[in-house]
Amino acid sequence: MPAKLLDGTALSQQIRGELAGRVSSLKAKGVTPGLAVILVGEDPASQVYVRNKVKACEVAGMHSVLELYPATLTEAELLARVQALNADPAIHGILVQLPLPKHIDSHPVIESIAPEKDVDGFHVANAGALMTGRPLFRPCTPYGCMKMLEAAGAPIRGANAVVVGASNIVGKPMALLLLAAGATVTICNSKTRDLAAHTRNADILVAAVGRPRMLTAEMIKPGAAVVDVGMNRVPEGQPNAGKLCGDVDFAGASQVAGWISPVPGGVGPMTITMLLVNTVESTERSAR
Ligand code: GUN
Repeated sequence: MPAKLLDGTALSQQIRGELAGRVSSLKAKGVTPGLAVILVGEDPASQVYVRNKVKACEVAGMHSVLELYPATLTEAELLARVQALNADPAIHGILVQLPLPKHIDSHPVIESIAPEKDVDGFHVANAGALMTGRPLFRPCTPYGCMKMLEAAGAPIRGANAVVVGASNIVGKPMALLLLAAGATVTICNSKTRDLAAHTRNADILVAAVGRPRMLTAEMIKPGAAVVDVGMNRVPEGQPNAGKLCGDVDFAGASQVAGWISPVPGGVGPMTITMLLVNTVESTERSAR
């Protein structure tokens, strides 16, 4: 495999190690960073994600609260829970896991989170702050991707960066972070004509589409840095059916790319690590 690995597990360990000192300093002042995670409904993947987030808090010596609600919870009930957490001084970060059940509009829920506790960085105030170059919280997944590229020493300034996927959670904030770092950024979406023509020009390629192994070796520029945000199951009938896989065909792409992140062990652990970083930052701000 010519490509160097963007190892999210190793980088996470390093960053979480550095974070431990900041958590200790806060605790010495009598403040324990606290994160509240809310999940509505029984989506199995979301259940795994929220448990991993809460577990990471415990390992980091932070306070965490996991609130699990049935899919029948009303929007009004959810808004009331967020309001209570906004007012709770032991909570410095609030995360409502997405997607929410169909009967709940995610926008008013996200806008109900106090911006200074919005460790996801999804509130319009935080999205606007990121867009105007004064971010309070960077969304965790794109933030983690940037850290991986920076740690690897992949050139960003002046690079052609292509982000495949335009979600509010990953694609759009990823593009803004790359732009702020001096990249020339293209955002592709499901309607993009001749996707490969764009991706083949990418010095940095971020895949966040949610389609298993959609980006293949022929679509990648030799030497590119490839960051795979996908978290899919291998479809039935293919080798390793049911196992986790990314949006990038790792076996092929790793023969062409200069750097590549694996799934699992790439962006996933970094997302959780940056959530811890954001929660500690939030706590430090409130303790000032
Ligand atoms: N669903 C998928 N990724 C995320 C995330 O980073 N935060 C939240 N709240 N929900 C998600």
